[in-house]
Amino acid sequence: MSRYKQTYAEWSTDPERFWMNAASSIDWIKAPETAFDPDMGAYGRWFPDGVCNTCWNAVDRHVAAGNGDRLALVYDSPVTQTVKRYSFHDLQTEIGALAEVLRLNGVDKGDRVIIYMPMVPEAIFSMLACARLGAIHSVVFGGFAAAELATRIEDAKPKVIISASCGIEPNRIVAYKPLLDAAIAMSEDKPEKCIILQRDALTADMIDGQDLDYSTEVGATKGTLPECVPVLATDPAYILYTSGTTGQPKGVVRDTGGHMVAMKWSMEHHYDVKPGEVFWAASDVGWVVGHSYICYAPLLHGCATVVYEGKPVGTPDAGAFWRVIQDHKVVALFTAPTAFRAIRKEDPSGALIDQHDLNHFRTLFLAGERSDPATIEWAQQKLKRPVVDHWWQTETGWPMSGNPVGLGVLPVKPGSPGVPMPGYRIEVLDDEGRQLPAGTLGNIVCKLPLPPSGTPTLWNAEERFHKAYLEDFPGYYATSDAGIVDEDGYVFIMARTDDIINVAGHRLSTGAMEEVIAAHQDIAECAVVGAADALKGQLPIGFFVQNDGASRDPVELERELVSLVREKIGAVAAFKTAMEVERLPKTRSGKVLRGTMQKLADNEAFKMPAAIDDPAILDEISSVLANRGYRKASK
Ligand code: COA
Ligand code: AMP
Repeated sequence: MSRYKQTYAEWSTDPERFWMNAASSIDWIKAPETAFDPDMGAYGRWFPDGVCNTCWNAVDRHVAAGNGDRLALVYDSPVTQTVKRYSFHDLQTEIGALAEVLRLNGVDKGDRVIIYMPMVPEAIFSMLACARLGAIHSVVFGGFAAAELATRIEDAKPKVIISASCGIEPNRIVAYKPLLDAAIAMSEDKPEKCIILQRDALTADMIDGQDLDYSTEVGATKGTLPECVPVLATDPAYILYTSGTTGQPKGVVRDTGGHMVAMKWSMEHHYDVKPGEVFWAASDVGWVVGHSYICYAPLLHGCATVVYEGKPVGTPDAGAFWRVIQDHKVVALFTAPTAFRAIRKEDPSGALIDQHDLNHFRTLFLAGERSDPATIEWAQQKLKRPVVDHWWQTETGWPMSGNPVGLGVLPVKPGSPGVPMPGYRIEVLDDEGRQLPAGTLGNIVCKLPLPPSGTPTLWNAEERFHKAYLEDFPGYYATSDAGIVDEDGYVFIMARTDDIINVAGHRLSTGAMEEVIAAHQDIAECAVVGAADALKGQLPIGFFVQNDGASRDPVELERELVSLVREKIGAVAAFKTAMEVERLPKTRSGKVLRGTMQKLADNEAFKMPAAIDDPAILDEISSVLANRGYRKASK
């Protein structure tokens, strides 16, 4: 039996014992005596009587063990031409000073702190300084607009916000501070203080009484090291807002203890990385990948992490990833397939790969969106190393399925993100909740309870948590992904069952975009769907109907709608196309046929929906799409 099968069987025979064993790799202030309490929360809670601190485990523990001089963090920023290295000792110093600043400004255990920052080491210091104090951070991705930030401020009610003067995109400098000020102005809840990191590329205007200069404050507290505050394993470590089916994002809550246990377990068994090695997740701290595998997991495991402020291409070329791997002796890279499609497009022969020394590099991990087999095969051929697709969600914080390299590499099936990880019993159900046979497409669900790190609830939204994840399939967590599990137990993720789309590995809600478009004064109704895109996987495209009596130029209206979505949601939505139609295709009960529209855009075969109100409308949609370069679908 392979080690994977053996380990999965160990988990499945006695999950509590399995996770209690895994928990022994964490330093506890009070070790848990109970692995799991099934009566707590919506489906039970892990390690309910454990007491711990994440910052201790990620930083102080390594210093205390005599590894203070070991490399902990590399900041590599081609956009500012900077490389900086921090040891665990340096990290402790930076985090200690910032934690003291937060403490002096009233941040206490359980208080929320929003972090709205670009990919700079101070973003990691901020996350860990919160962890040190037992405060709950909520990192907001820099590509989101002021309105999105405001929604998160209103929901999380942060005492302090940590931000920066700007982010640096290859084509422009993104001034963060005006976005932050606008978000605070929009929000009914105001933070008591904002700590602003002034960057060389742009100096932000500071507001007296509200804003503090990061460097000045930290300069004044350098050398202090407030204690690592003991928290319960079930206390929230962070809230991470992610797209839901409405404009109101879901505040995914992460437990402290279970999170650490799962992170540490996954570094050894899934990613096969050893303490002292360099692990690189080329993502952003604003996403779950950034939380788990830029910040927490590598540091908890005593590895060095890379904070990369750049893109896979254009900073300066498609060799950027290979240069970073070479310069910092990276052993494992984790990125989104989009990044590889971008690299392949610019360097199809992989010539730039060959120009770099990738001696230390062992494995490529891909996640965040479906990995098309062509991308996987190209990466395998050019890198001559295992290319591992794995599947997970913000809600779980770590892979639900994958190829646990640390337990021996399993054969790769291109198109499949591997086999279930210990912790996850993955099943495929029809809409009525009946189990489907192997190889049949259906709703992918996980038997409850979720393992450690799985979200126990949504911030301020217990009912929404039930409705979104637990109600449709009692006894299971509904992933909102559709797919199959084949006879060998390999999972295939085919599509979302809700209105979430995946744009360059970024999770976005078409419903949220529709809310923005529908608010325009000349719009009667609209629909947004995700159309297939060769680079980004999917791109949103909008259809709109003008109000009766409105006769606006559709080109002008499209421009207005595009800038409205950019202004309200952010550039990251990549919403660039909005087409006028006379009517939207609907069922007789008035449900918009978004799935059919998406198939028309992608030129996929589809069955005429039985309940369609007026089939002729599909011909109009087809010709509008054809005029815009999307091909007419065959019925
Ligand atoms: N702050 C501000 N703006 C941001 C931003 C940030 N942190 N990140 C992205 N944006 C902006 C970009 O500047 C761009 O704006 P534009 O419309 O003015 O050009 C827009 O959001 C879309 O950005 P992005 O998705 O990065 O697309 P791109 O066209 O600039 O680059 C790729 C294409 C393929 C290089 C890029 O999508 C990429 O690196 N993808 C990897 C995906 C990834 O790491 N996903 C994380 C999940 S694992
Ligand atoms: P996020 O919460 O941003 O991590 O997005 C989670 C969603 O991304 C999942 O529900 C899937 O739809 C999609 N996803 C993530 N990883 C994969 C993968 N390896 N293959 C297919 N889809 C994926």
